[in-house]
Amino acid sequence: MNYFEPTDGELACEGVALSAIAQAVGTPVYVYSSATLERHYEVLRDALMGAGLGQPLIAFAVKANSNVAVLKTLARLGCGADVVSEGEIHRALAAGVPAGRIVYSGVGKTEAEIAFALKAGVAELNVESEPEMKAISRVAATLGVRATIAIRVNPDVEAGGHAKISTGKADSKFGVSFSEAARLYANAANDAHLDPVGLAYHIGSQIIDLAPMEAACVKMRGLVEQLRAEGLSVRRLDLGGGLGVPYFNQPDPPGVEPYAAMIARVMKGLEIEFAFEPGRMICANAGVLLARVIHVHRRPEGRNFAVLDAAMNDLIRPAMYDAYHDIRPVRPRPGAPELYDVVGPVCESGDTFTRDRLLPPLEAGDLVAFMTAGAYGAAMASEYNTRPLVPEVLVKGDQYAVVRPRPTYESILAAERPAPWL
Ligand code: LLP
Repeated sequence: MNYFEPTDGELACEGVALSAIAQAVGTPVYVYSSATLERHYEVLRDALMGAGLGQPLIAFAVKANSNVAVLKTLARLGCGADVVSEGEIHRALAAGVPAGRIVYSGVGKTEAEIAFALKAGVAELNVESEPEMKAISRVAATLGVRATIAIRVNPDVEAGGHAKISTGKADSKFGVSFSEAARLYANAANDAHLDPVGLAYHIGSQIIDLAPMEAACVKMRGLVEQLRAEGLSVRRLDLGGGLGVPYFNQPDPPGVEPYAAMIARVMKGLEIEFAFEPGRMICANAGVLLARVIHVHRRPEGRNFAVLDAAMNDLIRPAMYDAYHDIRPVRPRPGAPELYDVVGPVCESGDTFTRDRLLPPLEAGDLVAFMTAGAYGAAMASEYNTRPLVPEVLVKGDQYAVVRPRPTYESILAAERPAPWL
């Protein structure tokens, strides 16, 4: 469920007409709904707690939407943060997420990043390899602290909507195998600078089938029991993110209640604390990318191109993953729907959001909204073609705030320095 609904024939976000935002802030622009963010967090938390999974740490995957205002909206509800870089730790802390609710994942943490995380006192570093575990131990020794770690296990299951976002197969770069995990865990328990508290996994993103998740959960439970049988203490299980969302016209995901029920069933009686790293599930449907039609180019041979002022640099998902985003005119015109290729102005053919999409008639100047764009939208945007980084707006009820303004051309150029010989 989300709070983007038509009001008086025009798409609105909560109590604010999208056309009013376009008018004041310009396009393209991302618009986020606070009520939807809050609702998704609460629905997930209630489902997990309702299934008997205790008081889990829900660490929002900052990579999905790293805007500080979005993080703050979630942090105020008690949400933590799953981060993958020092930059994301800075963002989480700036948003008021307590360090004790920050989980640090990622296959390539540098020693400088590890030191920063340890000094900040993050809840746990998820170890992705043996060299990384050694690096964490080394840095912790230098700082005179004991690093709280979890071992990220690669459960070798196939999951996730697209090969580029599947992470749980044995040949992917993420995590360690089960046998390696057992060995590393035992080594960590004997290392004065490491405190292994548990295990973690994340098998992929946009997962719409619970079966691979269940297979991974069963394997994880087995490993917890094996480690405990060896006399090791395992008190936390981080089950990652990955739950899919409805992208309209695409297969529906299972929903949070069956997801929570599956975990409760598999983990019954295990006596362990749970952590989760949801990203897309919380923010995808809480955001739209609002764009304006620059031209409608009707080729006499028969193709209609709707050329927008948004491009692949603002929303890369269609070009990168062949992702489907529902496209809605903000004020649909009457008349028979037509087939459109919806494209951006960037100079490459990949800058095509969709081909042959049946849409209400479009004219130059019309506003359109890319739905379900709150996850991996602005967070993956760039300034390719020297297009200013797309701004972001957060709506709450009938108010809105520009939470990241559009950079000016002056500020873009001012960020660069001439080489001394030029
Ligand atoms: N935890 C870890 C360790 C992750 O790598 C990810 C996502 C998440 C949690 C959150 O997964 P989610 O709940 O959002 O599925 N850019 C791609 C998605 C990349 C996902 C990367 N890892 C896209 O636009 O579809």
